Amino acid sequence: IPVDLFDLVIFGGTGDLARRKILPGLFRRFCAGQMPDQARVIGAARSEMDSDGYREMVREAIGEFGGGHTFEPAQLEAFLGQLEYVAIDALGEQGWKELQALMAGTERVEAYYFSVAPSLFGEIAERLQKWGMADDQARIVVEKPFGRDLETARALNKTLATYFNEDQIYRIDHYLGKETVQNLMAVRFGNMLFEPLWNSQYVDHIQITVAETVGVGGRGEYYDKSGAMRDMVQNHLMQLLCLIAMEPPARFSPDAVRDEKLKVIRALEPVLPYHVVRGQYQAEPCNEAKNPGFRTAVGNPRSRTESFIALRTEISNWRWAGTPFYLRTGKRMQARSSEITVVFKDTPHSIFAEDAGRHRNVLSIRLQPNEGITLGVTIKEPGPGGMRLIDVPLDMSYAEAINPDDVEHVDAYERLIMDVIRGNQTLFMRGDEVEAAWAWTDPIIKGWEARNDVPKPYDHGSTGPTDSTELLRREGREWRQVTQ
Ligand code: BG6
Repeated sequence: IPVDLFDLVIFGGTGDLARRKILPGLFRRFCAGQMPDQARVIGAARSEMDSDGYREMVREAIGEFGGGHTFEPAQLEAFLGQLEYVAIDALGEQGWKELQALMAGTERVEAYYFSVAPSLFGEIAERLQKWGMADDQARIVVEKPFGRDLETARALNKTLATYFNEDQIYRIDHYLGKETVQNLMAVRFGNMLFEPLWNSQYVDHIQITVAETVGVGGRGEYYDKSGAMRDMVQNHLMQLLCLIAMEPPARFSPDAVRDEKLKVIRALEPVLPYHVVRGQYQAEPCNEAKNPGFRTAVGNPRSRTESFIALRTEISNWRWAGTPFYLRTGKRMQARSSEITVVFKDTPHSIFAEDAGRHRNVLSIRLQPNEGITLGVTIKEPGPGGMRLIDVPLDMSYAEAINPDDVEHVDAYERLIMDVIRGNQTLFMRGDEVEAAWAWTDPIIKGWEARNDVPKPYDHGSTGPTDSTELLRREGREWRQVTQ
């Protein structure tokens, strides 16, 4: 789909996210013919350099993080030719006049990506207005963390609302840009098969797992103040929960979808203390220098921050009352695997005498890696052994169903940036959604803070603390295996 002419200003244009995701993503879109000739990407950051210096930096970033597609050297040169740079002081006056001069003139989409610490959001928004760039055409893109609790998120929303209307604000949750996350909506609302069964009458429970093998890496300071609940559950897992549980929106339009997601968040039950398990990873045995434990990694020997969390919640509405939703996420786990699993109920009665054990249909929606959707069905075990039942997958894996050569790889960030340019907010979080998510998260965090809760240690490369297994086992259920 062709896109309008645009200027994209990236505040924090020399930062990690810009180098790893935003700029390589834009380059891929450029190669796909989605960046008009006159469109410009303007890096804005504190470092003193000129546009040529910036182009060199971007060239290196694309060399390092570009991966995943082949291109001609001339394409890279042409892309770099559409880049500019302004050295700017977000807290002062330097650079704003230059940016204003660059942005003046022709009609085009103007997007400002705030790839900076949230403490600078207000400062930048204010200066954009002061220098006449916060007009009705402008769009701003803001990154997480969007606040650290309800109060700070409200304050942030209020500040941004001083300068921009809600339909100009694009709050990114990159999970919404992932291919399978969108496919989840296609599967639910594009098929007759699933929707009639999509409720507490037929669904036993739902699991959402986002397991990572990485540790906190170089982000120790941020992560120690944040933890898995704020870093992953309040946003990414919450969004997955919304999409799996929401009512069918009347149409696939931004507010219709976001209204339904909001209703889910507002219907979430408070989480009881014994329905939460927090964990902290240990060092890898005999390899402590390379893979230290959590406390060493964040440089805080007494840290009580969780790098793993598992919890059970319910949604109090007609569709889902009584159905448990189990969420878990953690770092340094056994495998990198993100999956949503819908476990259906047992058949009401078995007519097969030799049928020992339970047979349940399980729909698993795999986000990464090996994205795809699998439906587990029960069949007769082939052979002469009588009527024995086994569970087999009815596989819809993309790899087999769709020729990979025909699929254009689009990273979550590049898809979302293009949505900003097109002015489509469907895959972005609305202010009230973010606040509702914090309103549910806050009491859980306050609860463990009040109890001085200490996370349980768990082994490097495991599935988290044993209490997490217990969380389901005591209800006669078990987690899906975490496999790569
Ligand atoms: C980020 C979190 O939002 O998402 C990180 O801050 C996490 O801690 C990352 O590692 C996971 O994203 P992905 O796309 O690799 O699953």
